[in-house]
Amino acid sequence: VMDLIEIIGNKPLEGKIKISGSKNASLPIMIASLLTKEKVEIDNIPNLSDVSTLIDLMKSLGADIELDQSLKFKRKISFTTREILHSEASYDLVRKMRASFWVLAPLIVRYGEAKVSLPGGCAIGIRPIDFYLSILKKMGVKLDLKEGYVHASIKNRLKSLNFSLDFPSVGVTHFFLMMASLADGKSIIKNAAREPEVVALADMLNKMGAKITGHGTSTISIDGVGNLNGAKFSIPPDRIEAGTFAIAVSVTGGNISLDGVNPNEILLLSNLLQQSGTKITTSKNQMKIKKDNHIINSIDISTAPYPGFPTDLQAQFMTLMALGNGKSYIKENIFENRFMHVQELARFGANIKLKGDTALIKGVKEFNSAPVMATDLRASASLIIAALSAKGKSTIRRIYHLDRGFDKIENKLKSCGAKIERKRD
Ligand code: UD1
Repeated sequence: VMDLIEIIGNKPLEGKIKISGSKNASLPIMIASLLTKEKVEIDNIPNLSDVSTLIDLMKSLGADIELDQSLKFKRKISFTTREILHSEASYDLVRKMRASFWVLAPLIVRYGEAKVSLPGGCAIGIRPIDFYLSILKKMGVKLDLKEGYVHASIKNRLKSLNFSLDFPSVGVTHFFLMMASLADGKSIIKNAAREPEVVALADMLNKMGAKITGHGTSTISIDGVGNLNGAKFSIPPDRIEAGTFAIAVSVTGGNISLDGVNPNEILLLSNLLQQSGTKITTSKNQMKIKKDNHIINSIDISTAPYPGFPTDLQAQFMTLMALGNGKSYIKENIFENRFMHVQELARFGANIKLKGDTALIKGVKEFNSAPVMATDLRASASLIIAALSAKGKSTIRRIYHLDRGFDKIENKLKSCGAKIERKRD
């Protein structure tokens, strides 16, 4: 039996939403805890199925993991990995969540050996791993690719490396920081990703005793250390979740306050929403978002690495533009084939044509309700937003995609007056 979400739309959102900890910061930071024997305490980890999947994988590798229930609003989890007991990440896990591939770093560093499944085909593109393999080889790791697995082994310590990325991949930058922190000597990564999640991981590793500088810029230097120690860390807010709610109000109209956000991390989105006709005011940890009419100005966007427009908000922004007062285009530059929401948005009455990596959108006046199916994590959010604006009852199926990355989204929306229910299909 699978859950579905039912929404009766065409109601403005009014209220307050507390933003959860970032999924994309939590995953690499949890994995980094495998780099030390000592206890690592992390709070503000969101309650998501991707987090549970990673917890199961980490337990199977030898991590002792405890959830502290005493904190009401911030989930604190402690991780202690005295020894790596097992060095394999199976196809089932890596297929479900590509980020599990990153455990290759702690496995190689601490166990000298790893067997990790190739991520394989993925709904939003082919997602190759060539950069990872090239870093592993250049750091002295012996590689063997067979039967869908990367078999990696090393006898000595990892060699330091001066590496230049062809594209500022987030995952590869995370991976490099973890490996280079324990390599022999000074490493440098050029054209590194500048995403806030990279900064968070580097801050965490530095708390663990790593020597990383330059994170947040395109060139990061890492002085390898002999070993890492335990640390405490608090996961920063989820900028994609915050952006998703900001877009939702811009679509439905209304007035919401997002609490516990870092407005600087979604500056570009804020500017674009303001151009589209939404009013936004920000203070240190808060954003107030107000949309008091039905006119949405059409705007063109292209996704790009941070600080450009995030690919993880592309689908949600498309829902907004599909209700725009004119024509616009959205160009996807990060992942090929990340447009599966287009055919589902069409069910609500959206008028969107695809031409290669670009979606050509002609705004419609309003959406009709429809039964739709989520195709991937961020696409599912775009469908929720569309349903919130459509007159009548819509159903969204395959919401396990949504549960991977959005913490209690239906409760948060309900608290703002949305008519949204989770049901058994
Ligand atoms: C991370 C995020 C994801 C986000 C993406 C881009 C997590 C858990 N996921 O994914 O939500 O959409 O960043 O911001 O943090 N590439 C190669 N070769 C490689 C590795 C990557 O060509 O070896 C390419 C990919 O195919 C893609 C591009 O680099 O076209 C960017 O991918 P990357 O930044 O690595 O995405 P992820 O880290 O997987």
